[in-house]
Amino acid sequence: MAAVTDLPFRTICEEMGVGLTITEFLSAHALTEGAAKTIDKLTPSLHGRRFGVQIFGREEERMARAAEMAVDIGASLVDINMGCPAKRVVAGACGSALMREPALAQSLVRAVRSAVPEHLPVTVKHRSGWDERHLNAPEFAVAMVEAGAAMITVHGRTRVQGFSGRADRAVIAAVRAAVPSEIPVVGNGDVLTVDDYFAMREQTGCDAVMIGRGALGNPWLFRSINERLQGRSDPGRPSCDERARVFDRHVDYISAHAPPKKLVHELRKAVAWYTKGLRDSAGVRERAFALMDPLQVKTIAQKYFRDLSQLGVDSGAQPVA
Ligand SMILES: Cc1cc2nc3c(=O)[nH]c(=O)nc-3n(C[C@H](O)[C@H](O)[C@H](O)COP(=O)(O)O)c2cc1C
Repeated sequence: MAAVTDLPFRTICEEMGVGLTITEFLSAHALTEGAAKTIDKLTPSLHGRRFGVQIFGREEERMARAAEMAVDIGASLVDINMGCPAKRVVAGACGSALMREPALAQSLVRAVRSAVPEHLPVTVKHRSGWDERHLNAPEFAVAMVEAGAAMITVHGRTRVQGFSGRADRAVIAAVRAAVPSEIPVVGNGDVLTVDDYFAMREQTGCDAVMIGRGALGNPWLFRSINERLQGRSDPGRPSCDERARVFDRHVDYISAHAPPKKLVHELRKAVAWYTKGLRDSAGVRERAFALMDPLQVKTIAQKYFRDLSQLGVDSGAQPVA
């Protein structure tokens, strides 16, 4: 996720047991032009953990070269974004706009496939279609597989929907049914809880689930899912103390890896994620967003968690909107 799945965020999710993380989508054009801001986001996971790199574009040559850059930093897979609904991306006929140009989309998959060593998967993420009248996800997915995609992720919304409404699980099920069984299909959209995870698996037959927004400030979701998958009970949301500890660790990663100019901004984002839904979270966010000193931002959040803990508020059980 753009401006979310940077190294610190991915690391925290990895520590909580996520199976695989994927970088923010990176413009093949920017990467191949040597744009420092984009190249800085091309970061391998720590400690040799597996990670994917997602790229977007519509020029075969640039996509192939961007994929090689991903391989050079040790990516375990290269994912092609054909789902982004953002105006500036679609205006360049990239992202979800490619769902209206399956032949070009196929040529991009072929170009990336031939640039990446055979043992590394090239994968595609797309939406249910452009709009309600063009729900072409099943045939589009099959076309991508024919071009060389080794895995398909489907977000069950159309481009026109953006992030509104609900992700349609029937479309994901239709993709699963259409694509050869040896190709994994990943279901995506609106998985916020452990129950959502199992409902997605059961209702679509998908082989895995991609979680985006549900992990913001709640990396414990991966721990809960893993525990349930192992047949154990869900440990649930964390206590305030545990929340504070993981927030601190996330802040440490941000402090070590964020560009100095973006440090305060990144810390404020973390405050917003980890306090969302808790008592007086709007107050702590307001105070944090007024501060310019990174240390003060960190301190104010730590104090907030300490106060909650002393009040005996369980950060998981009593979310207050
Ligand atoms: C802030 C934000 C940034 C996103 N950036 C990307 C991206 O770079 N690549 C991508 O494939 N999807 C991106 N998405 C879409 C999510 O990956 C996901 O498909 C969508 O949010 C639905 O899943 P969710 O309900 O689990 O979040 C982004 C979503 C959000 C909210």
